[in-house]
This record gives sequence, structure tokens and C-alpha cells, in this order.
Amino acid sequence: MGQIRAVHINKNVVERPQKPWTHTVHALLNHLHGAGLPVPEPLDFGGGVERVTLVPGEAGSDAWAHQLRVESVRSAGRLLRRVHDATVGWEPPTDANWAVPFSPGGVVCHGDPQPANFAWRDGIAVGLFDWDVARPANRLSDVAYALEWFAPFEDDLTELRFRGFDETLDRRARVAAFLGGYGWEEPIDVVAAVTVRQQTAIDEVVYLGERGHHPQAEWVAAGWPDRWGPKLATARRVGEKLGL
Ligand SMILES: Nc1ncnc2c1ncn2[C@@H]1O[C@H](COP(=O)(O)OP(=O)(O)OP(=O)(O)O)[C@@H](O)[C@H]1O
Ligand SMILES: [Mg+2]
Repeated sequence: MGQIRAVHINKNVVERPQKPWTHTVHALLNHLHGAGLPVPEPLDFGGGVERVTLVPGEAGSDAWAHQLRVESVRSAGRLLRRVHDATVGWEPPTDANWAVPFSPGGVVCHGDPQPANFAWRDGIAVGLFDWDVARPANRLSDVAYALEWFAPFEDDLTELRFRGFDETLDRRARVAAFLGGYGWEEPIDVVAAVTVRQQTAIDEVVYLGERGHHPQAEWVAAGWPDRWGPKLATARRVGEKLGL
């Protein structure tokens, strides 16, 4: 069987493209699943395909409707904290290979903790999947990434409507809820953290695309990284309006 591109779901099993770092991600998921966290259980990989179990709950495009309440945001922060805590002290395999350049920072970060990668039930985050770009990092890396999506640091009305937000959107309350759910205690310059993480995310897409990985190679060819550049200015503008 050759390399697959798309994700296939068959009952309880998710088939995804195998990557050079799949063995490392499976080792991490084995640890987390074994510790009782609601993440995919790795089944096997080979022939270009990795297989993991489906995390129960609603996800993907159905996730937007579940993350509208402030309590929903808090639950996502809480779950991210539990997952991070469970990686403390875990030793990656000696031949570990992660998708992106990294610097160890005490935990292993998911790398893409946006609403669509959480599984939801009745507006509460009950699972976290799509661990492809996990990497050892500091907690702020994932927290800042999540804040961009959960606040959100976006002000395009069409995009906000698509995600289900209306004029009642209270970004300050959502930022506070995510940090509160996570149990974040240190002072934090949210806008600085979010924009640094946004730039890293763009750089990582270029890194993966230049190495021929999919779908990033297509994104780079289509010029997406350049078009994402203005996201940092958007986040600064939103932050300024909020007085953050
Ligand atoms: N282990 C899983 N548990 C539950 N749902 C899953 C799982 N893996 C994938 N899915 C579903 O399949 C969709 C795509 O999977 P995944 O997020 O892993 O791939 P992706 O390439 O990042 O796609 P996307 O860009 O849509 O996030 C998810 O949005 C979710 O609905
Ligand atoms: Mg995904």
C-alpha cells in the first residue's frame, strides 16, 4: 500500500498518512492513553498508513458550535493542562523524530490545539487528537496557539460568523477562561505570546513544505505562508482593542 493523503475513518479506527515521526508520536500517545487521557490509542503503522482509535465526541467542522460558550473554552484549557501534565517526565524514544524543530521546555506540546482538533460533547472538550506536529516545548507554546483560536485573535466578520460568533463575543472572558481552565498562574503578555507563536506556526509550515511533506508542500506552493503574515497584525489590532 502506498502513502495515503487523506484521513479515513472506519468505525472506531482512523487511518492517516504515516510520517517519518509517526513512531515517536505513537510512543507519546501510548504513554498518554495508558495514563488515561482521552487521546487516540495508537494501533499500528506501516506501508504509508498509521492507524489510531477514534476519540469519541464531535470534532472537525462540528467543533465550532461546541466552543462558543465561555465554559467550553475553560474546558479546553483544563484538558490541555491535563495532557501537558501527563507528559512531564516522559522520556521520548532514543530514536525520537519530531515533525518540526523544537527546544525541550518541560512538557510535550500537541502543536495544533485548535477547536477542530478537540473532540466535544455538549460544549465540553472531551478529547484531543491529530498529534502529528507534537514536539517537546514549553507550555506557553500550546497555550498561546490555543488562545489565538479560542479568543479568537481574528476580526474578520465573515470568518467570525462562520465560526458561529455574534456581537456577544467576549474575547477577554474567553482568554481568561482558557488561562483559568489551564491553571496558568504567571503573568502573561498574551498578544506577544500569540504573535510569537503565530510566526513559529508559519515558519513550521515552510519548514515542512520545503522538505516535501504534505499538505504543507501544497500550502507553500500556493503561497499561503505569505498570506498568513498579516495574521500577526490582526492579533495585535484585536489585542489593542481589548486593552491586552
Ligand atoms: N483520532 C480521532 N478521533 C476523532 N476524530 C478524528 C480522529 N482523527 C481524525 N478525526 C476526524 O477527522 C478529521 C481530520 O483529521 P485530522 O485532524 O487528524 O487531520 P487533518 O489533516 O489535520 O485535517 P484537518 O485539517 O481537518 O484538521 C478531524 O477533524 C476529525 O473530525
Ligand atoms: Mg486536524
